[in-house]
Formats: sequence, structure tokens, C-alpha cells
Amino acid sequence: MASLFFPLLLFAAAVLGHIPRPAAHCPGYRATNIHQNPSYATADLVLIDNCSLYSKDIQSLRLLVEYETETRLHVLIEDAGKEVYQVQEHVLARPKTQNATANEAALKFSFTEDPFTFTITRASNGEVLFDTSDSPLNFESQYVRVRTRLPLNPNLYGLGEHSDDFRLPTSNYTRTLWNAEFPFIPSRTNLYGSHPVYFDHRGDSGTHGVFLLNSNGMDIIIDKTELGQQYLEYNIIGGVLDFYFVAGPEPAEVSKQYAEIVGLPAMIPYWTLGFHQCKYGWPTIDHVAEVVANYSAAGIPLETVWGDIDYMRDKLDFTTDPSRYPLAKVRTLVDQLHQSNQHYIQILDPGIRRHDDYGPYTRGAEKGAFLRATDGSYYRGIQWPGEVVWPDWFAPGTQDWWTSEILSFYSPSTGIDVDGLWVDMNEASNMCPDMTCLTSTTSTTTNPRQQQPPPQPHRRQPPSQGGGQGPKLGLPNRDLLSPGYHIASRHGGTLSAFTLSTNLTNADGSHQYDTHNLYGSMMARATHRALITRSPTKRPFVLTRSTFAGTGSHAAHWFGDNASTWAHYRAAIRQLLAAAAVHALPMVGSDVCGFNGDAEERMCARWAVMAAWQPFYRNHADASAPDQEFYRWPLVAEAARKAVGVRYRLLDYLYTAMWRASREGRAVVSPLWFFYPGDAATWGVQTQWFLGEALLVSPVVDDDSQTVRFYLPRDVWYDFWTGEKVVSVGGMVTREGVEWADIPVHIRGGSIVPMRVRSANTTAELRKENFVITVAPGADGTARGELYLDDGESLDVGDNKSVLTLTWNGRAVEASGMFGYATDLVIERVVVLGDGGPRTQEGPWRLHKAFILRF
Ligand code: GLC
Repeated sequence: MASLFFPLLLFAAAVLGHIPRPAAHCPGYRATNIHQNPSYATADLVLIDNCSLYSKDIQSLRLLVEYETETRLHVLIEDAGKEVYQVQEHVLARPKTQNATANEAALKFSFTEDPFTFTITRASNGEVLFDTSDSPLNFESQYVRVRTRLPLNPNLYGLGEHSDDFRLPTSNYTRTLWNAEFPFIPSRTNLYGSHPVYFDHRGDSGTHGVFLLNSNGMDIIIDKTELGQQYLEYNIIGGVLDFYFVAGPEPAEVSKQYAEIVGLPAMIPYWTLGFHQCKYGWPTIDHVAEVVANYSAAGIPLETVWGDIDYMRDKLDFTTDPSRYPLAKVRTLVDQLHQSNQHYIQILDPGIRRHDDYGPYTRGAEKGAFLRATDGSYYRGIQWPGEVVWPDWFAPGTQDWWTSEILSFYSPSTGIDVDGLWVDMNEASNMCPDMTCLTSTTSTTTNPRQQQPPPQPHRRQPPSQGGGQGPKLGLPNRDLLSPGYHIASRHGGTLSAFTLSTNLTNADGSHQYDTHNLYGSMMARATHRALITRSPTKRPFVLTRSTFAGTGSHAAHWFGDNASTWAHYRAAIRQLLAAAAVHALPMVGSDVCGFNGDAEERMCARWAVMAAWQPFYRNHADASAPDQEFYRWPLVAEAARKAVGVRYRLLDYLYTAMWRASREGRAVVSPLWFFYPGDAATWGVQTQWFLGEALLVSPVVDDDSQTVRFYLPRDVWYDFWTGEKVVSVGGMVTREGVEWADIPVHIRGGSIVPMRVRSANTTAELRKENFVITVAPGADGTARGELYLDDGESLDVGDNKSVLTLTWNGRAVEASGMFGYATDLVIERVVVLGDGGPRTQEGPWRLHKAFILRF
């Protein structure tokens, strides 16, 4: 959509610009009143002298250092008065464990007193990981700066959301975190989500993670000084320095340690791993039914069809268009989909049309659910339906209102029985760059309820954290519209441009200035909660465009409005790696075949194939783009049939990885260096990925090409398609003549991969198929794998689950573990790959108890 205002954004970007002022002359703080004990340290930090670069220096700070676990160190620098905004506990609950001691910790904290600077060191090898000694801290009311020196040209990953290189540039590079709708996902731009976390990979000496729990707008600059010293510098327009350092040292451990802080990813319903089709611009419900029928006729499994805003009357949430999408017909289609084990999801946007005849608005107003402008009237903006008001996710009545709207509109008996919800435009995206496009510039309204004096914001105190007493809801008397430091957001000329005005007060007394980056994640969580109320025993499924650190614990994410280009086909891989391996967002994917523009047949075929090896698999396009369902071209249809077929056979392998992620944060998708950390050739690879821990995917990535050059690290590999063993000494492999439906995939030696014997048209039918187990011995002759089984949909499966550990010791396959999921399914066949070709034994072996199978 934003093609409408995209040129305007770029223009505004050009006028914005900012150059951080050098701050070396600021004297910083002195540490006093220092207390240290084995598991924590505290100190007062007193301003040495005024500097006030962009706003007012805060005179007194408080330092708290906690050795929370052996691998996690918490460093909090907050204002002594605890007024400065901190992300509310109910939005992101801090981890509770606080029982490690400095002696046993993998990371050490040390500091200088005058000026105060600090260093984080890896205990095992003395390596300095974070070091602020080159420049004292700035901690002002609207500008916080901390800089760490780093080794030259470090391997840094994360700091999303962005479409840049997976391994971040190390010179002249700025990552701006300010959630914004950005069609065509340009590079070097803030995008829809904010994830202030990076992984720093130092080869064999280890990987660590640095998470700054701060939702304020910020620029993170990665660059070198004039003397060639490498640094990374946070320039933040507010909030506190709430750092979590995690030690790894294995890369995969860093993913887990980060997910433990921000929340383990939500377990997804099994069916959501099926193939999804969406399109903005489907004119009628009959058209949608045709799409479903066409997929069936083409023999391409379609699991879920989506309803974009087309279903709505005048683009209003919780309505259906009476002529194009009459409710009765929508209900009939949804019934038919359910009868054939297919699913249906609809979109919701946050903007609520302000009209007295519109129930969601009047009921929301009664519950005090909407944000108010400084004059007390409802704050207004423009979204799809025209002039709208916006939910205040902090207001006490908002969750109830949102839940009850969802319960009534999506009532299975009288409304639309959706299987999941999609929340969009929740950055929040406001099509009005400033207030000028509103129909009236005054705050008068026809609703008498609104003319009553607005309730005064009540400053509720969040549950205390770290012994804190202050409200932590934001310092008073700040310039909430244009702070002195301008972050490099390219989304219009001001912080408030095309979004909610940053001077708005939320119901708890915090301000959009501080909470802007939380808006989308909070909407997704409210929707997740509403779905649980609707079906208390079922796993909810919510897809969100806007995210913040921790969103993976309640929602899936897609990468927004990309384009139907080869460049964005490649970007989808980089974005996948960052989201799934670093940002703890495992259920992710791009709009397959691209959202904006015309998809070309060969590109769409490649994308259909490539995306089948990524967790969230949805084809979607803009209203202005031609239809691009897979069956529309013979080549794409053929590619999709093959891709979906193999994906479905591997669905339990993927589901098992998803379950592991939800239990312990293990990454579902990993870059090569996660498993070959010492191999420098892997560190910059961003066109290949591991799906789970066994399958290395190496798609063709060049425009219109049938050749791919990919890297195979030093190890034993097996071609996934032929079973052929490949022993690599570490090097590039060239494949030519790769057919449009094909994709190179290798099984990593040492893995055991469970698959269904055959694919099916829906995941429900797939779940009736038996298993085949493929053993791919590693260099030491052994292999290992896992298979997780449950009913695929219960929120709490209790003991009704099976977790099979599969091992191969060179002579026998052993299945052990727990077998709580009642099933008649069997393992039909076990295949052991190896030098002399595959060896096979035919079963069946039941999946209800341990077994050993000798070869
Ligand atoms: C936004 C979404 C896109 C959706 C469109 C209409 O642009 O990113 O996916 O199709 O709005 O709802």
C-alpha cells in the first residue's frame, strides 16, 4: 500500500539527516557508594560535570549488576529517581533467576570508578567482549549514549528488523530502531520491528549476545574511529540502559539464552506449517472459493486461505461486505474448508473507524479503549477505513473490549469461525503524515460520551523490579515531539510522521514517545489472549507485521511488503536468518513470490521451492499486483507440487524443531556458522541455511539462473534427494542445470531425519501417514535425531506427547524417550545412508514403546 506515500518518505528522509555530535569531551559519571557481593554489585553514579549534549543531564544514576545465571549477566543503569521510562513488566517480564555468583559466571563485569566505564570479559579466555572505556556514558533526559569498542571488523548479527546483510556492515553503518511501515523493504532503513539484540561471533573463541532492553527510538552505529578503532554505539532518545549479556559460548546456546530472556517462542498448531494462500484484492467470496477449487484441481495442497481487508465492509474491522462477502457465504466457505480439513484466517487492523453507528467504536469508547490527544479528545488518524481512533493497549478496558469483539465476530456458531488472526498496520501505520488530512482539525465529535472530560491518566505503578520504587513511566517535561537528537528514521521527517503522535499519553501514564516500538507486539499479544479466551484449550495462531523483542512468544511474523524481484527473493533468506536465529522469531517467512509488482514465472517457481524450506509458507500479493497463485503457471505449479510434497513429508521434523524452540529457544533455522563456528568461510554466508539441525538448504540465488555455487563445510554430507554421501574438506560446490523445481539440500552427517512415508493434500491427512527414518552417519559413524508427536493443537498437551530420541551407534538404531501420545502409526522403514549406498530395513515398529533395531 505504501507505494502511495513511498516517494514522500524518501524525500522526508533526505531532509531529516543527523550527525551525532562527538561527545568525547563529556566527562561522564563517577561511581561512588559501591557495594559488591558474590552475586551482584551496586553503585551510585554521580554526574561529574554538566554536558547536556541534546537534553538535560541526569545527575544521579544507579548501577545494578546481577550475575543472574552462569551464562547471563544483567547490567542496569537507571536514574536514581526511577522516573525514566522502563518497558513495563507486563509487556516484557524480566527473567527471574538470580542465583549465580561472579566466581562461577562465564562473564565477568569490571569497571573504572572515575569516570565510570565498564567492561564485560569472557572468564574462560579473558577476552574482552564489551568495553565502554573509550568514552564516558551520556545519560540525559532525552539522549543516552554508550559506546563499546570492538575487535576490527567483527561478525555481528541481529539488530533488526532490516533487509541488510545478515552479517552487519562494520563501517559507516547505522541501524535505526523505530517501527515503521516500509513497502519495498528498502535496505539501510528502519522497518516494521525493533530487536535491540546482536550476536557477536568470534570464531572458535566463542559467541556471545548483547540485548538492550529498551523500546525507545535509537540509532546503533557500527563504525571505526579516525584512528581505526572499531566501535558500536547506542544513541537512544530515552529509557534506561538495561543490558543482558549472554555467554554462549556456542552460537546455538546464544539463541537459547536470548529466548530465555524475552520469552520462549509460542508453540504453533501443526496445521500452520501447511501451505497458505493470500491475496489483497480478491473481489468476492466466490472468487476465494474459486482459488480454493483451482488449487485442488491443480493438485497443489492448500492448507489455509486468508481473508485480507477485502472481506470488510468499507474496510471496517469486524464487518463483512454485504454484497461481495456476505456473511452467510463466508460462513459456508469456512464450513466447506473445515469439512475438507482446510483453514481460514482473517486480517484485523488497529485503526477503528470513528462513527456512532459502528459498534466496535462505541463499545471501545465505553471501555475507555482509545488513545486520547493532549486536549482530551480521541486521537485520530487515517487508516484503511478513513478517519480512525486507535486502541490504547495499556488501558485497563482494552483487552476486554478487543476480546469481546473477537468473540462475537468470530463466533463459530453465528460469525466467522476463523482458525487464526492476522494483525497488520500495527507499527502503528497512520496514512496521515500529520494531522492535516483529517476531515476536521477540531476535536469535536458527535459522540456525547466523548464530550465529557477525559479520564485523567492514572499513573499505575508496574510491579517492582530490582527493588525499584519509582514509577518508571517516563520523565516529565520532555519534548516528546522533537527531541534534540534526531534518530535516522527514514519514515517521514518527524518521529510522529505516519504513526501515532509521540506526545500521546497511554492510560498508565507512559507515552507513545517511549512505547511506540511496543504497539504492534502489544496488539499481537492482545489478539493471542483473545483467541485463548475463544478456545481455551487450543493453541492460538496470530500473524503480526510489527514486532518487538519477545514477540515470538505470542505471534508469528512475515517480512512485510516486499517486491516480486530476485533481490527480494534473496532478501527473504537474510531476513529469515536474522529473525529465526537471532531474534527468537521462529515462525517467519516472506510473502512468497513477492507482494508488490508482477511475479515472473521462473522467479515464482524458485521462490515457491525455496520458501517450502522455511517455517512460515504463505504466498501473498498486493491488490495492484496480478494474481500469483502457484497454479497460474505450469512451471510454478510443478515446482509447488514437488516443494509442498517434500515439505509435508518433513513436516514432523520441522514440527519437532518448533517444539524444541518453544521448550528451550533452540533456533529452528540456523546460519552455517552455528554448527561450524570455527570456519571463517561460513561467517558471511547468507544464501544458505539449516532447517532444523540436520538439513542444509542451498537454493539457486542468482537471477534467472540454473547454476548455484554454495559452501559445504568440512564434514560428511548426504545429498537429500539421492542419499549419495559427500565428504567435504570445506569448499564451494557448483551445481549447474538446477531445474526450476529443484533445490540442493544436504543432510548433515550425524543426523537422523524422520519423515512421513508419503505426502498428503492436507496436514490432517498427512498426520495419518506412517514414518520412514533416515540415518545419516557422521564422520565418527554415529547419528542422532528426535521426533516429537502430539495432537497438533492442544494448548497444554500434558503427558499426551511422545518425544523420541533416535540414535545410531554404527550397528543399531535405538528409539527411546517418552511415548505418551497414543497413536497407531508406525515407522515403516529405516534407511541407513553410507558409502555402499542405502541399507534398508522394513518394519513396522510401533510408536508406543522403545525399540532397538540392529543392522
Ligand atoms: C499492508 C500489509 C499487506 C496487506 C495490505 C492490505 O500493506 O502489509 O500484507 O495485504 O496491507 O491489508
